[in-house]
Amino acid sequence: MANDEKDEKEDVMVMLQMKGLNERWAIKREEMMFEKNRFAFGAGGDLFRAKWRGLDCVAKTLAVDIADERKQRQNLVDLANEIKVLSTLRHPHLVMFLGACFQVGKAPILLIEYCPGGNLEKKLIQHTANATRMKTKEALQHTTDLAVGLNFLHLCKPPVIHRDLKPSNILLTADNRIKITDFGLSKFINKKNAKQNDKYVLTGETGSYRFMAPEVYQHKEYNEKVDVYSFAIIVYWMFTGYKPYADNPDPKASARAVATVGKRPNVEHVKHKGVHKLLSECWAQNPDDRPSFEVVVDELTKYNDQPKKKDSCTLQ
Ligand SMILES: Nc1ncnc2c1ncn2[C@@H]1O[C@H](COP(=O)(O)OP(=O)(O)OP(=O)(O)O)[C@@H](O)[C@H]1O
Ligand SMILES: [Mg+2]
Repeated sequence: MANDEKDEKEDVMVMLQMKGLNERWAIKREEMMFEKNRFAFGAGGDLFRAKWRGLDCVAKTLAVDIADERKQRQNLVDLANEIKVLSTLRHPHLVMFLGACFQVGKAPILLIEYCPGGNLEKKLIQHTANATRMKTKEALQHTTDLAVGLNFLHLCKPPVIHRDLKPSNILLTADNRIKITDFGLSKFINKKNAKQNDKYVLTGETGSYRFMAPEVYQHKEYNEKVDVYSFAIIVYWMFTGYKPYADNPDPKASARAVATVGKRPNVEHVKHKGVHKLLSECWAQNPDDRPSFEVVVDELTKYNDQPKKKDSCTLQ
C-alpha cells in the first residue's frame, strides 16, 4: 500500500474512533435486534437481518472467523470507510444509511435498509442459466436507475467514486428498483489524493476483475470513469443475458485481455440500438473517451418515458 493511501485509511480510523460515538447517527447496540444467523456474507464481512425501532434492516459487521490479522484489519478499514462515505449520502438509488454503532473492543456495525429483492447478480445468473434475458423495459429501468445513482455520486462535492461496481453490489427493492450498495472501496475525490489532470493513482487492483476498468488492472492513474466502464459491463449482462467472459474461467485473464488487447463482450448481442452505441462508448479503452453519467442519463432518458430536459424550468 502506498504511504498516502495508508495515511488516509488511518485518518479514517482515527476520525471514526475519536468522533464516532458522538455522531448524530450513532446507534446503541441494545436498540438493535439481530437474527441469530447471518443471511449473507461478502469478502469483507457478515450481514445479519435486524430490527431497529420496528424497521427491517441489515446490519453489516466484520466476520468473526477471519484468522488472517492483516486481512481483518483491512476489512475494518473498509467498513470504517463505508460508514464514512455512506453516512454522507442520501439518494433514492443508493442504499439508505440508517446509522452505525461503535463500541470500544467490538466490531463496528453499519445499519442499512433491507432490500427484499436481493442482489442483481442472482437475477442475472438465473437468466443466464435459463438462457433468457430481462425484458427490455425492465433492463432499461434498471440501467437508468443505476446511471442516475452513479451520476449523483459523481456530482457530489467532493465527488465519490464507487470503485467496486458489480451486480452483487446492486440491490433490488420490493418494487424492483435499484439501490447501489457496498461502499467499502469508495473514495471521495479530494485535493489530497489528486494528481495531475484530475486523475488519481490506484495502489492495488481494486474491485472485481470481470467488471474492472483496464486502467485499474494496469495500476495506472484513474478517475471516476472507472465506474462508467463497470456500468457498461453490467448493462451488457442485463440486455443480453450473457455473463461477460463466461467462456473464460479465469476472470483475471479476462481483465488482462481487456487491458492489453482491448477485449470486450460482443456488443452485437445488444439488440437495442441506443444501448448498443452507449455501451461501446462507456467501455472505451481511453477513460477520456467515456461519457460522464450526466450524458448517459440524458441519453437513456430518450429511451424511457421520462420527463425531458426541455420540460423543466427554474423556480422564480
Ligand atoms: N441492504 C441489503 N438488503 C438485502 N441484501 C443485502 C443488503 N446488503 C447486502 N445484502 C446482501 O449481502 C451481500 C454482500 O453485501 P456487501 O456487498 O455489502 O458485502 P461485502 O462484504 O462488502 O461484499 P464483497 O466485498 O464480497 O463485495 C450482497 O451481495 C447482498 O446479496
Ligand atoms: Mg459486495
